[in-house]
Amino acid sequence: MIYITRRERFNAAHRLFRADFSDEQNKEVFGKCSNPNWHGHNYELFVTVKGEVNPETGFLTNLKLLSQLIKDRIIEKVDHKNINMEVAFMKDKFASTEVLAMSIWDELETGVQALGASLHCIKLHESENNFVEYFGN
Ligand code: NI
Repeated sequence: MIYITRRERFNAAHRLFRADFSDEQNKEVFGKCSNPNWHGHNYELFVTVKGEVNPETGFLTNLKLLSQLIKDRIIEKVDHKNINMEVAFMKDKFASTEVLAMSIWDELETGVQALGASLHCIKLHESENNFVEYFGN
């Protein structure tokens, strides 16, 4: 088994809040990320896939196709968008890094399988110091 990772980047806006909380309650629970007028992050997405090396190519998978898959299914949909309002696969979900990483997994899983590999980890950096890792369960 071997693992390979492709990095992509995107910028997006979000707000962490509950509609049933007041602005004060939201600020207490979600901090700066609850700013009612939105704010942005420069996200870094690391998609790690795993499988066996193809003896005919020496590759696990075609990284160009993996990059294209991530661009088509994720980056095109979130880059320069408002995650709460404009991203179909995040509709009615919390716009947290955790939920975003889990949703990205769901969006990519079948496409990665079609490339002859399996998804291993979605690592999503929201900032230099905060990131999440999701392994599918
Ligand atoms: Ni934030």
